[in-house]
Amino acid sequence: MGTSERFERYVGRSGYYQDVEIERTEGNFLVGPEGEHYVDFVAGWCVVNAGYGRERILNSMRKHAEKAAYVKPTYVNEEVIDLAETLNDITPGSLEASFRTVSGTEAVETAIKAARMYTGKEKIVSLEESYHGNAYGAMGAGDTDTKQEFAPLAPGFEHIRPPEYGDDEWYGELEEMFREEDVAAFLSETVLTHQGVSIPGKEHYERLRELTEKHGVLLILDEVANGFGRTGEMFAADLYGVEPDMMTLAKGMSSGYAPVGATMMREDIGEEMSNTDMSAYSTFGWVPSAVGAAGANIEMIQDGLLENAEEKGQLLEERMMEIEGVREVRRRGLLLGVVLDGLEASEVRGRAAENNLLLGTTNQENVLMLSPPLNIDERYVEEGVERLRRTVESLG
Ligand SMILES: Cc1ncc(COP(=O)(O)O)c(C=O)c1O
Repeated sequence: MGTSERFERYVGRSGYYQDVEIERTEGNFLVGPEGEHYVDFVAGWCVVNAGYGRERILNSMRKHAEKAAYVKPTYVNEEVIDLAETLNDITPGSLEASFRTVSGTEAVETAIKAARMYTGKEKIVSLEESYHGNAYGAMGAGDTDTKQEFAPLAPGFEHIRPPEYGDDEWYGELEEMFREEDVAAFLSETVLTHQGVSIPGKEHYERLRELTEKHGVLLILDEVANGFGRTGEMFAADLYGVEPDMMTLAKGMSSGYAPVGATMMREDIGEEMSNTDMSAYSTFGWVPSAVGAAGANIEMIQDGLLENAEEKGQLLEERMMEIEGVREVRRRGLLLGVVLDGLEASEVRGRAAENNLLLGTTNQENVLMLSPPLNIDERYVEEGVERLRRTVESLG
């Protein structure tokens, strides 16, 4: 039986799957069994921010795991405190406490629970076409095509269409929901990666904060994909100076070297959550190897990767706009939504993989999502762009 057949037979899958076999990495190239070198413009979908094969992260993981392979979350541990203190320092203003998780889904679940517990209210309002993870809470907040197949779904979720920035009607609709429903929180990505990389302006967050505060609704920003340098700032919230009441983190927190995430909360919310029983206990949340990965990863992002994200992002945007068939590029740092003219993003993604270029797609059919590692150099950008040019030409 061939590798693809064995994969299909033995490995459970969900969503699209690509017949791309990866054996190892070499620099930021993903290498297949025939030695083919893929340019990776996805990095696991906003995951591998620090890049592949980074010794500093690998060494830190080993050092932490050697010191103690596992520390039960109920015990006090210096390294855990250090990481939580770092997150406190680097996240926006009033976010104080880190709740430890393994994944983005778990971080979102914890935020939903905390919002309901803290406000005593029930509803979570989120956006149509969003994705926040795959447990019942996160799935309730998200808007995947097939979720009804898993009914009964968790109750208490309301959706509003994706924002039309500057459109009074949209903010009016949201306020109507806040006024009429028993709303605990509004949950959204800061920059909307899943909705075709939709980038709000500053005014959006000013209006959102005004509305949430007026109606006693908590603002939860999901930075699972946005966080840790992706947008050229440590967090996308820093682009706007917005201070959410909670923030969810994962993916880029360890650049994929270990499963790790966090729900950041305002001090008073965190304190109330800490008084509940087992509601945020996570056996594998922040095991020593993951703490080691996250700590070294954050240091690397602070050591020049934010600047590189912006510099290479600008270059990538310029080069993309030179390709015929690209209508518009929406970009912050190295997070790009590439709007295609008359081409389907999923078709381009498939053909690009044949040209050894890996691309992402979103909930908008004509938008490609690009999120390469933040440490890429100019040569890597040019090589990827050249492969995309060839791909688009072959489809045109
Ligand atoms: C914005 C957002 N939130 C949450 C999640 C869920 O994270 P995880 O897959 O780590 O559970 C994802 C995953 O793609 C995401 O993009």
